[in-house]
Amino acid sequence: MKNIKVRTSSPYDIIIERGGLDKCGEFISSALKSKKAVIITDDIVDRLYSQRLVKSLADYDIKSDVFVFPNGEQSKNLSTLSDIYDFLCEKNITRSDFLIALGGGVVGDITGFAAASYLRGIDFVQIPTTLLAQVDSSVGGKTAVDIKGGKNLVGAFKQPALVVCDSDTLKSLPQTELSCGMAEAIKYGMIRDADLFRLIENHDISDINDVMDELVYTCIDIKRDVVEHDEFDKGERMILNFGHTLGHAIEGWHNYTDYTHGMGVSAGMCMITERLCSKALSDRLKNCVKRYNLPTGTEAPIGELLPYCSKDKKRDAGDINYIICPETGKAEIHRVTVAEFEKLMEG
Ligand code: NAD
Ligand code: GLY
Repeated sequence: MKNIKVRTSSPYDIIIERGGLDKCGEFISSALKSKKAVIITDDIVDRLYSQRLVKSLADYDIKSDVFVFPNGEQSKNLSTLSDIYDFLCEKNITRSDFLIALGGGVVGDITGFAAASYLRGIDFVQIPTTLLAQVDSSVGGKTAVDIKGGKNLVGAFKQPALVVCDSDTLKSLPQTELSCGMAEAIKYGMIRDADLFRLIENHDISDINDVMDELVYTCIDIKRDVVEHDEFDKGERMILNFGHTLGHAIEGWHNYTDYTHGMGVSAGMCMITERLCSKALSDRLKNCVKRYNLPTGTEAPIGELLPYCSKDKKRDAGDINYIICPETGKAEIHRVTVAEFEKLMEG
């Protein structure tokens, strides 16, 4: 078992352990006093893992009910959130009880926001079951739902009380979802850790599971460090957005269908590196993402992507902050006007 302590405004532990799902009762009862929880999950994860979690909690006298919604980003909205609130009222959940997010980033984001807002805030535990959720979304306290105006536009910062990552749960992930998480892992190598990048480029989608525990631990520890320095996303935390400005634009251009977030991030990282860094680094990054069946670019014309970039919520008073990595393990934040960004991307 590995343990990472996150020292944010409300500190918490991240436990990384194969088979940890069956020990959640023990882990949670050490972190929280309450004996009553609601597990929030999606239909796929529910079929795979809910029963084991309910049993593990029951072994430690924690009573739980399960709220299930249809899997996918289209459920991360105010309507599902309202159903969650109704369920919590129906089960008489009080401020001393807690929620458990069992699933990927969609489950984690909406459960976190329910926990931030229900009764003005109750505790919640993250049990991430996708690679993306383990290395990124379950850590750092960003919670949100989507509205018609855009993704993640309504949310709050709410740190979990505990995170339990069981890399055995990743074995049931479809390969496209594993690739999606690998895009974020490659991002961590690029922005902070040249050795992590080397580890990833020396494996591929068929054997990365052999080093999964090391990979998950290293990625989470990088995110911990970044979040501890800038919990509320005012500066350094922006480096986590490497590849994301163009990535989100590509996802938007595809209407968020048939194009995953990881594919967007991968293409975004490669495109910005190709334009603004050395050919050697660009080729190395492209070779690495290809090993995980991720794209190096997009068929979308750059001119059609730029309007999406200027709508990006990472814009700040008319400017765009973009991230480049001049070498593996090193990130720089650059702030330019939208017009300057467009010139850089078109040039
Ligand atoms: P997801 O939650 O939609 O999960 C992807 C798919 O995998 C779903 O169909 C799910 O049912 C299935 N699944 C989950 N675990 C499984 C398992 N172990 N075995 C088999 N299938 C499984 O997507 P995601 O990629 O995990 O997360 C994407 C979401 O995360 C987006 O909404 C994004 O905005 C958000 N996000 C949030 C943050 C943050 O800091 N809060 C960071 C990055 C992304
Ligand atoms: N996923 C970006 C962040 O947590 O800031």
